[in-house]
Amino acid sequence: MLPTFVRSTPDGTEQGEFLSLDLGGANFRVLLVKVVSGENRRVEMQNEIYVIPEDVMRGTGSGFFDHIAACLAQFLEKMGIKERKLPLGFTFSFPCQQTKMDEAVLMSWTKGFKPTGVEGKEVVSLLRQAIKKRGDFDIDVVVVINDTVGAMMTCGYDDQHCEIGLIVGTGTNACYMEQMRHLEMLDGDEGRMCVNTEWGAFGDDGVLDDLRTDIDRDIDAGSLNPGQQLFEKMISGMYMGELVRLILVKMTKQGLLFQGRTCSLFVLNTYYSLMSLSEDEGLAEAERILRGFGLDPTVEDCIGTQRVCEIVCTRAAHLVAATLASILRCYCITAPCHSPKQETRDLFCLFRFSRRLHKMVRRLVPDVDVRFLQSQDGSGKGAAMVTAVAYRLAIQQAE
Ligand code: GLC
Repeated sequence: MLPTFVRSTPDGTEQGEFLSLDLGGANFRVLLVKVVSGENRRVEMQNEIYVIPEDVMRGTGSGFFDHIAACLAQFLEKMGIKERKLPLGFTFSFPCQQTKMDEAVLMSWTKGFKPTGVEGKEVVSLLRQAIKKRGDFDIDVVVVINDTVGAMMTCGYDDQHCEIGLIVGTGTNACYMEQMRHLEMLDGDEGRMCVNTEWGAFGDDGVLDDLRTDIDRDIDAGSLNPGQQLFEKMISGMYMGELVRLILVKMTKQGLLFQGRTCSLFVLNTYYSLMSLSEDEGLAEAERILRGFGLDPTVEDCIGTQRVCEIVCTRAAHLVAATLASILRCYCITAPCHSPKQETRDLFCLFRFSRRLHKMVRRLVPDVDVRFLQSQDGSGKGAAMVTAVAYRLAIQQAE
C-alpha cells in the first residue's frame, strides 16, 4: 500500500505536448503525446518500442539508465524535437516509496528485472543524471507513476468515474483512489490520493501458504526473486505458461499424458503459446500447437492439455477477482459508491480472462455495480495524462 501523490484524475480540460517513458512491462516504450482540449478534445500519440538487451537487464544500474537515456535521445532525434525541453512523465512499474510526484525510491525489482545498485535509490535522479551525462538534450521530468495509475488515468480521461486501475500483464497490480484521512503514512485529512496496492506481493508474509501448490513453490524457487511477489507468480503472464508447463511435465511423468514421454516438454519455452490453448479455438488448434513442440499428441492429450490451461487461467482470474472484490468493498464503504469503473488490459484480450474475472467479481460483490473499461496504451499514455493534470493544476494555482 504505497502513496502515489496523484491526487486528482483528469477533468478533460488538460492540454499540451508531453513525453512519456513506459518501463516495466514486456516492452520499453517512448511516447510523444499531444493532448488537445476543447471541442476537438482528443489524445494523439506517436511511440517507439526499444529493446533492453539481456546484458543491460542484468548489468549495472548506471548502464541501464544510460541505455534508457540513449533510447530517449534516439526518439527525440527521430521526432525532430531534440531542441525542445518537453515535460516528461515516467511510468516505472515497480514498487517504489514516493515522497512527492517526481521522486520514487525503488524498493525492489520485480518481473525479471535485475540491474544492480538501483534498489534503495531514487530513480528519477538516476534518469536525470544519465540524461545530463549525455548533454545532447534536456527534458523536464515532472512525474513518476506506476502503470496501474497510468491505466486509471487513461480511462479517467474518457470517463471521470474511473477510480480503480488494474493490470494483469507481465505482472499484476492494482491502484485506487483513497480518502486522505485513511492514509496513516501521510499528514493531512483533506481530499483523496491514489494508492498503489502492489498486490503482487500479497502472500509474501505467508498468508497464501494454504492456497499455494507444489507447482507454485517450484515456480518461486526457480525465479529471480524467491519468496517475493508470490500472488503475482500465481497469476501474471510472466509465470502462467511456466505453471502450465510444470503441470504437464508432472502429469506426463505420472504417465497421464503423451505416453509418458516428456522430452520436448522439458525444454519448451512455453510463455504465451501454451496459454493460448485455453482459448475456445477447438482441439485442432491444441493439436497444432503441441505438434509445433515436437509432440505427437492423441485426442486425449489435446483435451487434457487444454483443460490444464483452462484451470490455470481460471484460477488466476478468480484470484484477481477476490482481491479486486476486497478493493471494491473497501471503496464502497469509504467513498460514496458510484459504480467505480475498472480498467483492464493485456492478458484480458489474449485469454478471455476477463469473462471469468467479471463473472467472479459479480458473484463476490453482487451489490456493487462495477463496470469494466479496457484501456488502450494505459501505461504510456497514463504518464502523459498525469503530467497533463499536474500542469493544469499548476496553471490553475498560479491564476
Ligand atoms: C509488478 C510491479 C508493480 C506493477 C505490476 C504490473 O507487480 O511490482 O509495480 O504495477 O508488476 O506491471
